[in-house]
Amino acid sequence: MRRPLIAGNWKMNLDREAAVSLARGVGAAAGDGEVDVLVCPTFVHLDAVAQAVNDANVHVGSQDVYFEGNGAFTGETSTDMIKDVGCTYVILGHSERRNVIGESDELICKKVHAALAAGLLPILCVGELLEQREAGQTMDVVKSQIEGSLKGVDAVQMSKIVVAYEPVWAIGTGKTASPEQAQEVHADIRSLLARLYNQELADGVRILYGGSVKPANAADLMACGDIDGALVGGASLKADSFAGIIEAAASA
Ligand code: 13P
Repeated sequence: MRRPLIAGNWKMNLDREAAVSLARGVGAAAGDGEVDVLVCPTFVHLDAVAQAVNDANVHVGSQDVYFEGNGAFTGETSTDMIKDVGCTYVILGHSERRNVIGESDELICKKVHAALAAGLLPILCVGELLEQREAGQTMDVVKSQIEGSLKGVDAVQMSKIVVAYEPVWAIGTGKTASPEQAQEVHADIRSLLARLYNQELADGVRILYGGSVKPANAADLMACGDIDGALVGGASLKADSFAGIIEAAASA
């Protein structure tokens, strides 16, 4: 059975005090561990947040990482650095990094390999733009992002990766993909992983949905057979709304 994962992507939000207070609130809401709970603050708050959730059933991840180990890479942060402050997960290829910062599949793939080599669990994000969905290209886009970002990743490594399907048109817009729309893409992603690797591996990979997930829509999304959790932006910034999503996953 795939264990649900509810991950909060705090993006570029909160000051240190608010981040620590939210982390404590999430720790209180995380319960006894039926669901894996993860928070991903900005780099500068990782250390404080990891300390705040130290005794709780909450994992900490970063929102990105660089692929080089160390050296002259101004502004970048290495896998060892984020592990050192308590990270076990790392979000890679988020749509804002792909579409705002301009990251390519090739760069994301290097980061995936670096994260795996460091023993971090990558959350690989994929998803189509509105015009791509309207042109019927959703699965072509998602397939090329997955294949491009996973070049050279073998089956053992793939078993450590979480995939997050985040349709770009649903991120921060209040427009959630319907459970049917999300389930269709999730099932297609699982079939693609079965073709690229094997069915047993594909059946074990967790595929999260992201894009305007809230307590009110979480239960219907989590009830879908191929949706194994959520990557949550806005609704992860308040402990009570994030707790509502954790509860929906626990009772799905
Ligand atoms: P929202 O939940 O704010 O739509 O953000 C989704 C997201 O991008 C999570 O990574």
